[in-house]
Amino acid sequence: MLDLLINRRSIRKYKDILIEKDKIDKLIKAALLSPSSRGICPWDFVVVQNKETIEKLSMAKENGSGFLKDASLAVVVIADSTKSDVWVEDTAIASILIQLQAEKMGLGSCWIQIRNRFHNKFKTSEEYVKEVLEIPENYSVESIISVGYPNESKRPYSDEDLKYTKVHKDKF
Ligand SMILES: Cc1cc2nc3c(=O)[nH]c(=O)nc-3n(C[C@H](O)[C@H](O)[C@H](O)COP(=O)(O)O)c2cc1C
Repeated sequence: MLDLLINRRSIRKYKDILIEKDKIDKLIKAALLSPSSRGICPWDFVVVQNKETIEKLSMAKENGSGFLKDASLAVVVIADSTKSDVWVEDTAIASILIQLQAEKMGLGSCWIQIRNRFHNKFKTSEEYVKEVLEIPENYSVESIISVGYPNESKRPYSDEDLKYTKVHKDKF
């Protein structure tokens, strides 16, 4: 597990290679295995491979989503926010599990924040994504996880990177 965490970095450059079906199936499994508060599972996942749709989604944010256009896959993590008051936590857990499963299979991924972000001055990223994907009204959008075969390499984390001063023993 630590090996996976040390090596996982946000990858924003991708090769133009399709992701095999069995790998996509495993990403979906990882998402569906996410723990959720009271086992409510308020999330849904929109698995997007259509190039045009991915390109539209890459415009979800003013900044910080453009690289999605080169990804082979986008997993849009949404939740019925009427089902659970902690849907944000539940969708965040699912998002990182998708990223870790991607890492495990040699794929690169990056979290694209949608909740509380803006498409432009007039529209939120959430409104934009909901329009593009025809997501029902009662759903909220947490993130898009971009996935693809890495076309950049980043150094793994080392012990020197770890902020041990943030760990408090017995008292703050
Ligand atoms: C909640 C959250 C939101 C993020 N949103 C974005 C985003 O919108 N666009 C982006 O390029 N990266 C985004 N990231 C990736 C972070 O920038 C990245 O994880 C951080 O810089 C640490 O780098 P690393 O992932 O390589 O360890 C997000 C990460 C998290 C956990």
